[in-house]
Amino acid sequence: MVAWLVLALFLHKAPPATARATVKVTGVVGRAVLLGADIPLGFQVRDAIWRYLAPAEELVATYFRGSAETLYQSRFYGRSRLHSNLTLEISQVELGDSGTFSALLVNTRGQTETRMLHLAVYEVVSQLTLQVFTSESSRSGSARVCEVFLTCVAASGTNVTYSWGRTDGKVLSMDNHSLFEAGLVLWAKLGPSDRQVSYTCTAANAVSWESATIAPWEHCQRETGAEDAVYDYRNILLIALPLSVLVLAVVVFGLLLSRKRSGKQRTKLLLDASEPAAAPV
Ligand SMILES: *[C@@H]1O[C@H](CO)[C@@H](O)[C@H](O)[C@H]1NC(C)=O
Ligand SMILES: *[C@@H]1O[C@H](CO)[C@@H](O)[C@H](O)[C@H]1NC(C)=O
Ligand SMILES: *[C@@H]1O[C@H](CO)[C@@H](O)[C@H](O)[C@H]1NC(C)=O
Repeated sequence: MVAWLVLALFLHKAPPATARATVKVTGVVGRAVLLGADIPLGFQVRDAIWRYLAPAEELVATYFRGSAETLYQSRFYGRSRLHSNLTLEISQVELGDSGTFSALLVNTRGQTETRMLHLAVYEVVSQLTLQVFTSESSRSGSARVCEVFLTCVAASGTNVTYSWGRTDGKVLSMDNHSLFEAGLVLWAKLGPSDRQVSYTCTAANAVSWESATIAPWEHCQRETGAEDAVYDYRNILLIALPLSVLVLAVVVFGLLLSRKRSGKQRTKLLLDASEPAAAPV
């Protein structure tokens, strides 16, 4: 530890011999990620320090004269491992591990190299749910045009972007398509020529993607295509609903009435029972 402090002081004073661009590393939640030190050819590493810089600076791993140490009080305690090639391995990566790491390398001649790496952690996109909502006008109007809202939701995944396509390869014309909620919702006006068409939603992030397909016209047909069936069904509802309300009202009224009667009877019985007791006194 004392040796490390000396080394750290030394490194803070001496500016790195060569500064390189920050390397971007992508991690996946729950998996391991390797952060390479990218040692130059012929650079005989004697000491190395891996630090996590942001949001709070933490010491993650050191290599000093042949021995590696990773048991420092950092968020990576118990999850970090320093390989002999000075690659830092973080296992069971979490979203909060995203941040900047630095590696300071010192060779046997006292020269230094600095490496900066930015780790971005993502959760894998999974289980897309596609749903179709038909508008009220589509259901009651003619079967020629059908307006639908398609929603696409991933069960998990961070930094997900949604995009839509048609299986017939046609570009989504903005005359009859609109996107809402950053692509989560697609509104489409379908014509008779769109009966066969399916829409594909693709949800993607830096580490994964999922896609799902749905044929929206089927949902229009269910409402407007079989118009007669819908009409019959509605007629039944028109009659059945008031009828059932009436029946319910009668039943409730009857129940209330009988309860009132039995209540009266009970009080009457009580009065009858109390009368003889009162009489002899
Ligand atoms: C360093 O070692 C680890 C573990 O053996 C290996 O997975 C990784 O590919 C190595 N990296 C380089 C740059 O050699
Ligand atoms: C991912 O989303 C988070 C939270 O919205 C944001 O802080 C982060 O910058 C995003 N990462 C990328 C690479 O876009
Ligand atoms: C959608 O717009 C395209 C281009 O403007 C047009 O060719 C197509 O007929 C439209 N479809 C409907 C159902 O209006």
